[in-house]
Amino acid sequence: MSHVHPPTEQALSTAAQRLRDGGLVGLPTETVYGLAANGLDALAVASIYNAKQRPSFNPLILHTHLSLDGLQERQIIDMNRLGATAQSRARALANTGWPGPLTLVLPRGQAVPDLTTAGLDTVAVRVPSHPVARALLAQVNLPLAAPSANRSGRISPTTAFAVADEFAQTDLFILDGGPCQVGLESTVVHIGSEGTITLLRPGFWSRSALESSLDTPVQTPSDAPMKPRSPGMGSRHYAPTTPFLRLPAPIASLASSTREALKQTLSAHTRVALLCWDDAAVDRARDSGLPHNVTPSCIEPSGDLQATARKLYQALRDLDATDATLLIAEPFPPEPIRHTGLGFALRDRISRATTPFEE
Ligand code: TXA
Ligand code: MG
Repeated sequence: MSHVHPPTEQALSTAAQRLRDGGLVGLPTETVYGLAANGLDALAVASIYNAKQRPSFNPLILHTHLSLDGLQERQIIDMNRLGATAQSRARALANTGWPGPLTLVLPRGQAVPDLTTAGLDTVAVRVPSHPVARALLAQVNLPLAAPSANRSGRISPTTAFAVADEFAQTDLFILDGGPCQVGLESTVVHIGSEGTITLLRPGFWSRSALESSLDTPVQTPSDAPMKPRSPGMGSRHYAPTTPFLRLPAPIASLASSTREALKQTLSAHTRVALLCWDDAAVDRARDSGLPHNVTPSCIEPSGDLQATARKLYQALRDLDATDATLLIAEPFPPEPIRHTGLGFALRDRISRATTPFEE
């Protein structure tokens, strides 16, 4: 069984020792909890893939307290494979985003085993800002490979207890750092050797915030002529085990044929949870005359994006644990915040957690 420990000096040194010995630790970060191991030890990294049942083609992020220079010195990254423009952009990104929820994909140094990067010649690195993660990294003085601490494909954990729940059958040592402040995984950015910047995974850092901090355009994989690979970005991810449908429009404004088809689907269930994105949407859904088996609710009554992000994953876990046999969500987010930073990241996660409802 897994154990949750308050982050005392004693717990931190036990965790550090476990990591040096090639073991796994549940690690709090400001984004989501990670399942950490020594990222330079191939056997330790193998046990992450094993515990998560993660396909070995999906590379891991190295967590560190080192600067780019420190990473270079330890041969974790190889800045010499970047041109001058790319080097200065990498430095600018590290200066703006570290410590914090920003991951940089850089040329891989010789010290990093194949398994950590799934054989890619790049390595993803980030400096977390969570004080418990920082204290542990300083103590263990090794880069820690840490994917989100969930079984592959499932919802990322944002509390220590959610980690314990994911790994109930394992003897996992989990440090309790409280609920995560950001709640969504880090923004992942690839830096090409000529200085091309590609946003691989949206998060707290939006494309436009990155563009203004670099004063240069940032591309997404779909507009990249030379696609940098991010093998972990499959379309279904972050998903509850209960079937979860995404509606094409808010329930009150569905086309009548869609509404009829939805009624048919709903009638096969005794309890259905409907997820709306603020209190007003819950009221509109109620007023639209829902079947009796459907309960509307929202994660954050004010619709505040930061609070929605912080609460999303735990809310999905909680809904998954109810007796509802179907979850449905209104589209997120409503215009005009669709294209802003966190709105974009939330929409990405919600679309990966759901299947579109089709007539
Ligand atoms: O916020 C986070 O990033 C959390 C916490 C624990 O730090 N970690 C996390 O790790 O979300 P994970 O393994 O669940 O997601 C890592 C993502 C995957 O989409 C993976 O494909 C991408 O980063 N990635 C890792 N290394 C890469 C590389 N060398 N090139 C491109 N993408 C990479
Ligand atoms: Mg993950």
